[in-house]
Amino acid sequence: MTETMQLEEIATAATILRGGGLVAIPTETVYGLAADATNDRAVARIYEAKGRPSFNPLICHVSGFEMAARFVEFSALARRLAEKFWPGPLTLVLPRRGDSDVSLLASAGLPTLAVRAPDHKVAQSIIAKLGRPIAAPSANRSGGVSPTTPHHVAASLKDRVEFIIDGGPCAVGVESTIVKCDGDKAILLRPGGVPRAAIEEEIGKALLTPDAAKIEAPGMLTSHYAPHARLRLNAHDAHTNEAFLAFGPAATHLNMLNLSAASDLREAAANLFAHLHALDKICIEKNLTGIAVAPIPPKGLGEAINDRLARAAAPRT
Ligand code: TXA
Ligand code: MG
Repeated sequence: MTETMQLEEIATAATILRGGGLVAIPTETVYGLAADATNDRAVARIYEAKGRPSFNPLICHVSGFEMAARFVEFSALARRLAEKFWPGPLTLVLPRRGDSDVSLLASAGLPTLAVRAPDHKVAQSIIAKLGRPIAAPSANRSGGVSPTTPHHVAASLKDRVEFIIDGGPCAVGVESTIVKCDGDKAILLRPGGVPRAAIEEEIGKALLTPDAAKIEAPGMLTSHYAPHARLRLNAHDAHTNEAFLAFGPAATHLNMLNLSAASDLREAAANLFAHLHALDKICIEKNLTGIAVAPIPPKGLGEAINDRLARAAAPRT
């Protein structure tokens, strides 16, 4: 796409958002279903379009630290993380400021708000043009596989969104890492695009695990990111009636896609959702019984990849 076309699309997106509409926008992680975060009716439309339970709060996308500080309180630790990893795939869950004009619906009534500065020039230009934060969950029907191309968005939300901006495939491919900062405590709510080790190195201590007794990130329900097909994890090869999602060197198999033949976890993360979408389609068309998935090493981005695969494989509720 030419620069001028993209500028026109950005202006159109900002106009729709200002009018309370919904736009699907590219970010470096996955496509987001965006609305003006300060407009209650627009935020309500996100929940409706996705079929998302209203107790599941949304991430508020900001241009950077200054904009975020208008809506949430930063502890020294939170500020340090924002300075190190923004713009980028890190979401911080922080106490909401009393004078924040972000819709209460966006934080689903919680005393906290999730904020992130995306590392994508289209997303950043739209926020700048609108001059307000953007509430945006992943642009898929609730519970389904996240979109990493405009085609994935169209397949799931075509009639429910005014406009889809084509920013090509997402570079990171898995959603942001979510860290809740409670004073000097940092709790990992969702593994994602920034690996755990990078955050732990920055703060000089281990990330804490959320209290299992309360669901800290309501969206982290066990079954999620789910294709229609059944997944069989840690499979070293596939049965004849299964599709195969490989990782690393693999013997050829019919209906196989490889996350990364070179065993590169970044490449695997970028391919994950697109390959799940594609194999799911093949399973339906060829009436296969499911998708066998090769083991993924749990280090680096492997933690986020394994998290998404485990949820995609979980029994459906
Ligand atoms: O990379 C991403 O994070 C993408 C792009 C579009 O930015 N967005 C995304 O949004 O993944 P979504 O809505 O699919 O996932 C957001 C997660 C949900 O699990 C939600 O429960 C959690 O963030 N969350 C949001 N606000 C929260 C809060 N105040 N406290 C705890 N969890 C929160
Ligand atoms: Mg999602």
